[in-house]
Amino acid sequence: MKKFARIIGTGSYLPPKIVTNFDLEKTLDTTDDWIKARTGIKERRIVTSENTCDLALEASINALSMSELKPQDIDLIILSTTTPDKIFPATATILQQRLGASCPAFDVQAVCAGFVFALNTAQQYIENGSAKNILVIGSETMSKIVDWNDRSTAILFADGAGAVVLSDDKDTGIKHSKIYSDGNYLSSLHVNNNRINELGTIKMEGNEVFKIAVNKLSELAEETLKECNMTSDDIDWLVPHQANIRILSAVAKRINLSMDKVILTLDRHGNTSAASIPLALDEGVRDGRIKEGDNLLFEGIGGGFSWGSVLAEF
Ligand SMILES: CC(C)(COP(=O)(O)OP(=O)(O)OC[C@H]1O[C@@H](n2cnc3c(N)ncnc32)[C@H](O)[C@@H]1OP(=O)(O)O)[C@@H](O)C(=O)NCCC(=O)NCCS
Repeated sequence: MKKFARIIGTGSYLPPKIVTNFDLEKTLDTTDDWIKARTGIKERRIVTSENTCDLALEASINALSMSELKPQDIDLIILSTTTPDKIFPATATILQQRLGASCPAFDVQAVCAGFVFALNTAQQYIENGSAKNILVIGSETMSKIVDWNDRSTAILFADGAGAVVLSDDKDTGIKHSKIYSDGNYLSSLHVNNNRINELGTIKMEGNEVFKIAVNKLSELAEETLKECNMTSDDIDWLVPHQANIRILSAVAKRINLSMDKVILTLDRHGNTSAASIPLALDEGVRDGRIKEGDNLLFEGIGGGFSWGSVLAEF
């Protein structure tokens, strides 16, 4: 009998420190007006002393609480991050210990597409029957790999975490998912270290990334809808990776979806990479916009490049 991976709990966590565009005006040659107009971002959260696992832990506790499951009920932990606490062990393993879980745990790295890649992976384990309950997290401290003197990237990236608990369900859940990578785009968006023990910072060709993001995300949304025999009318909520409001508007327009059906957190969260989709999802669920039975389309694209989509009934 077919099993679906269904979201039964969501949670999120943001570090308390708010950095507004006005704060950035003090250290960078930029303005609040420029950042708002070009990106849609007004403020973002930045860690002070917290690590990626600290944020992931809080988001996971919140998601587990909604799911009414205990850490011991979880069969697998998949954590998507670009900013792990250590080179090893996986941040997921550190999280497993801190949660008091005893299941296998590993990290997935696909930058801003990381959460979609992690959901896609979790889906396989549930559908083939090797896991019943999976905790999937997107957690990032992007502020640690940003060059705070580079105005083209420092205004965009931010910190936060979101999590979901997936459980097997005989009726519904993830209906479709698709992931892509193309390393030919490495130079468009990457961290510029040459060795693993050398620190680097994010380097980005903004215009190039913008165009690729609009094209890939629009094509993927069209492909996903076609393969599900759906139209954009069947989508209740687009819960996208929050990179730039102009990217999201262009994608929504291309697939004929009203912006009223897009969950937006970009203005307050900035680009939190793998955390942005589960952060937006949790906000939509907790404020009552996302309801049981809604069709959700998740989409993300990230550095160098990886991109993917998940279509799920909530
Ligand atoms: C980065 C981004 C906001 C820049 O916006 P843009 O409209 O493409 O702006 P441009 O790079 O063409 O720059 C326009 C001008 O603004 C300047 N500028 C760049 N950053 C600026 C800033 N923070 N404040 C003020 N001016 C800035 C540029 O130097 C340029 O000046 P010039 O015309 O004198 O040369 C935009 O390209 C973007 O969002 N790209 C996608 C990035 C992204 O989402 N990455 C993550 C993907 S997961």
